Amino acid sequence: MEPIIFNDEAYRQNALEQAHYNTFLLHSNDVMIDLLTDSGTSAMSAAQWAGIMQGDESYAGSPSFYKFENAVKDITGMPVVIPTHQGRAAEKILFSILGGQGKVFISNTLFDTTRANIEFSGATGIDMVCKEGKHPSIAAPFKGNLDIELLESYIADHGSDHIAMVIITVTNNSGGGQPVSMENIRKVHQVCKRRSILMYIDACRFAENCYFIQQREAGYLHKNIKEIANEMFSYADGCTMSAKKDAFANIGGFLAMHDTNMATQCRNLLVITEGFPTYGGLAGRDLEAIAIGLYEVLDPHYLHYRIRSIEYLTQKLHDAGVPVMLPAGGHAVYLDAKAFLPHIPTSQYPGQALVCALYTVGGIRSVEIGSLMFGKYDEQHRLIPAHLELVRLAIPRRVYTQSHIDYVAEVIIEVFQNRKHIRGLYIVEEAPVLRHFTAKLQPIS
Ligand SMILES: Cc1ncc(COP(=O)(O)O)c(C=O)c1O
Repeated sequence: MEPIIFNDEAYRQNALEQAHYNTFLLHSNDVMIDLLTDSGTSAMSAAQWAGIMQGDESYAGSPSFYKFENAVKDITGMPVVIPTHQGRAAEKILFSILGGQGKVFISNTLFDTTRANIEFSGATGIDMVCKEGKHPSIAAPFKGNLDIELLESYIADHGSDHIAMVIITVTNNSGGGQPVSMENIRKVHQVCKRRSILMYIDACRFAENCYFIQQREAGYLHKNIKEIANEMFSYADGCTMSAKKDAFANIGGFLAMHDTNMATQCRNLLVITEGFPTYGGLAGRDLEAIAIGLYEVLDPHYLHYRIRSIEYLTQKLHDAGVPVMLPAGGHAVYLDAKAFLPHIPTSQYPGQALVCALYTVGGIRSVEIGSLMFGKYDEQHRLIPAHLELVRLAIPRRVYTQSHIDYVAEVIIEVFQNRKHIRGLYIVEEAPVLRHFTAKLQPIS
């Protein structure tokens, strides 16, 4: 249990100024409802806390590791399991080995840290989400799918030798938390197999994706979530996972794969950057919490409640005319900032302007997933905008109740009614990579 801290609009306006109009720089004590992320913010269960008490902190060969390893093997069917302290650590290790100048990583949509780790290695990331995934208002069941035609035509034009791997992100976080169908995963696997290209799954929200498959794809209604997960992972050569999402853990991640030679290379790097292969940057107690969380997330009642509560908020907003990504995603509600604030050009970061307004008006913290996060500059330092200008309200797992969610809806609707007064922003200071975390901004006067 945590108290909710109440503050007023004048206080929040001042806090936002102090944070340079970047809600990542706010003190979390100044936030009333924190929807910045669903990562590491879930409430752990009684069973997980009990597991934490039993964590074994042996440097090597801890029983907590074997419990963790068995859970990952059981769900993914992959024989090699490498623990890391977060998802991005798994990415860093993998891409340091497979990336580099001239290499290309293709995905439905790469998440920000995934793209950053690819680019940091010198390689290039290419997003190929399906056409319907690019339009927030078009409702389709699997808007996270990868565009197979585009993948095949890319291979026909450029060959496949330089493609380091294809990564399917389930669900597609940067594209509205939209699911990927089993059919799409299977077809991508077939294309990759024909061309000897590796296929990995970015599995942060694997259980939410499996729930959508169960509910929306023909032939899966009578399969349980674990059976669906087993099939989904069976098409992949490996996966990266942030256990801070669908394992309800406050920290943790892993890399799993079939290739034992690749695993040796990964473990060599792991020892330098994370730790010994049976703890990899985690305490034994974290491994226990993850092992338990990975099974709890397969509970169909939990998944039903989770997905339904996101749908509930999305529907409430849609009914009030607020432009939202449709249909509802798995872990978050996404506002279409371009349609919400048509008077603010992309060069003035409409998504970030909306994030600031939601905080000032209602103390709600959200995150921009648009040109602040993904924009690039051309040679003349002009902004190349992102495909979409979204604001994500990520719902932490097992934390907020319906009355909190009703409050969130009221605030968003109020901001929508007064949207004409919201001004754009410009960047005063930014880091060369992942600038959205630390950028300092100012409102356009
Ligand atoms: C799809 C996706 N991939 C990778 C990551 C990185 O995970 P972590 O934050 O544990 O490094 C995230 C985190 O939000 C994510 O959503």
